[in-house]
Amino acid sequence: MNSEWWKQSVVYQVYPKSFYDSNQDGSGDIRGIIEKLDYLKKLGIDVIWLNPLYQSPYVDNGYDISDYYQINPDFGTMADFDALLQEAHQRDIKIIMDLVVNHTSDQHEWFKKSQQVPKNKYRDYYIWKDPVEGHEPTNWGSSFGGSTWEFNEEIGQYYLHLFAKEQPDLNWENPEVRQEIYKMMRFWLDKGIDGFRMDVISLLSKKPDYPDGRVIQNRKLGTYYDGASNGPRVHEFLHEMYQEVLSHYDVLTVGETPNTNADQGVLYSDPTREELNMVFHFEHMHVDYGKYGKYSNASFKLTDLKKVLTEWQEKLYQKGWNSLYWNNHDQARVISRFGDDQEYRVTSGKMLATLLHFMQGTPYIYQGEEIGMTNVKFPELTDYQDLDVFNTYKELTEMHQLSHEFAMEAIHAKSRDNARTPMQWSEEKFAGFSKVNPWLAVNSNYPAINVEKALEDPNSLFYYYQKLIQLRKEYEIITTGRYQLLAADSEKIYYYTRETDDQILVVVCSFSNETEEFVLENYSDLATHSEAKLLSGNYLEASQVASEMILKPYEAVAYLFDKKGK
Ligand code: NOJ
Repeated sequence: MNSEWWKQSVVYQVYPKSFYDSNQDGSGDIRGIIEKLDYLKKLGIDVIWLNPLYQSPYVDNGYDISDYYQINPDFGTMADFDALLQEAHQRDIKIIMDLVVNHTSDQHEWFKKSQQVPKNKYRDYYIWKDPVEGHEPTNWGSSFGGSTWEFNEEIGQYYLHLFAKEQPDLNWENPEVRQEIYKMMRFWLDKGIDGFRMDVISLLSKKPDYPDGRVIQNRKLGTYYDGASNGPRVHEFLHEMYQEVLSHYDVLTVGETPNTNADQGVLYSDPTREELNMVFHFEHMHVDYGKYGKYSNASFKLTDLKKVLTEWQEKLYQKGWNSLYWNNHDQARVISRFGDDQEYRVTSGKMLATLLHFMQGTPYIYQGEEIGMTNVKFPELTDYQDLDVFNTYKELTEMHQLSHEFAMEAIHAKSRDNARTPMQWSEEKFAGFSKVNPWLAVNSNYPAINVEKALEDPNSLFYYYQKLIQLRKEYEIITTGRYQLLAADSEKIYYYTRETDDQILVVVCSFSNETEEFVLENYSDLATHSEAKLLSGNYLEASQVASEMILKPYEAVAYLFDKKGK
């Protein structure tokens, strides 16, 4: 059962802990989200994705779940959650939840029992392995530093954790584990939620021979990707999940799929295969990786970005479906990363929004993106909260012997806390997020960048996003048109078209902070069509579409042509 409503939808991601604090304890909560639903309605989004709200010791901000059936009391109660669902549905907004089933918390009942001696059936709910020649079974390095294996003296075995040691991996080979997960999914779907974002779903099936991973330059440990991503049974598991659970509900499913290319993206999202609707890939998030991986402030090449986005647009066309994102709770803020967070903050933010929202797929907006929130530069390491920051600092300074300054620069550029600073609602103290000191400090630029200001300014980023969302509803071509990249070699201008039998949409985006001359190589073809209609532009005076265009710094325009005789 699937009506494909998610193809016309725009999703807004809420990171509950940082969205809005309704009870003044410094941490966002469910009632806070309810209070802001009208704001989201005004923006025009169709769906909210909620990061994990479940019971959790919070070692990895809720991605370590100790009870899938309970709401974490810091966020409120199940009654609050039911109220949120009802209030959202009343406004015609759907809600999707995070599904974190590659691993649980080490405080989950299953894992507690898994460690008991003598052994019981729960031992086989997780992945326990004997030492190999006195060592870890493989050389795999965890996402948060160190080995993926943790030794248990009493049992004499290691358990696997691809993330923190408090996040043991579930054993998906065990059919009973799968049934437990399906039961839990039905519980939430029967409550009326509208789908799931599935955490690291490409990692569910590990290669049975547990091969060592390749050791990448500057890494002591091998990556687990070789043995754990897109493993031999992952598609079988997801198809089973579809048959047993998802096919019985009209829902949106998006899988987070690290280490997945566009060909694999088709396998996950081709509707005839009955797995997922779409995936979040990471390939465009890797274009600015440096010598030490993600934690780098390396610049990126626009041609690399084009290559990745184009490949996904082309390969999934009429085969699968794309999800479109720049930001989420794990990524640096896009304006600081691919735009300009100073003079051209709003202009470059609009340009990036234009580039993404005219592509084929379902766009995701991460809280604060719609007002142009930027990266934060906390001066002290202790100002940060994310465990990944501390592990990275240690890795850079101890393992690689790099300076404190180098490590802090990398953290400023890429820390996940860049995305997690509290939502900036107003210029009141603590950005109007809370009346008390928040769990993570607010970005000091909140007096200038906040929702209240954005709503007062008709030219704000907020209203630009609002319009992009409306355009998607008005113009079918944004959902269906075929994508084509032009000027592939330009390092300054990203130019693509979308085309149907009746229309051509021309999207020109400048990544330059200077005025640029740009030749529209296919202008003679375009000129045979109707007058161009400006759908969107980020300057009050948009540059005319012409064979030679003069683009202002970070200018973006989208023009629509009706084909003659149509
Ligand atoms: C991906 C999530 O988005 C991230 O926040 C989390 O740390 C890991 N998966 C582990 O669950």
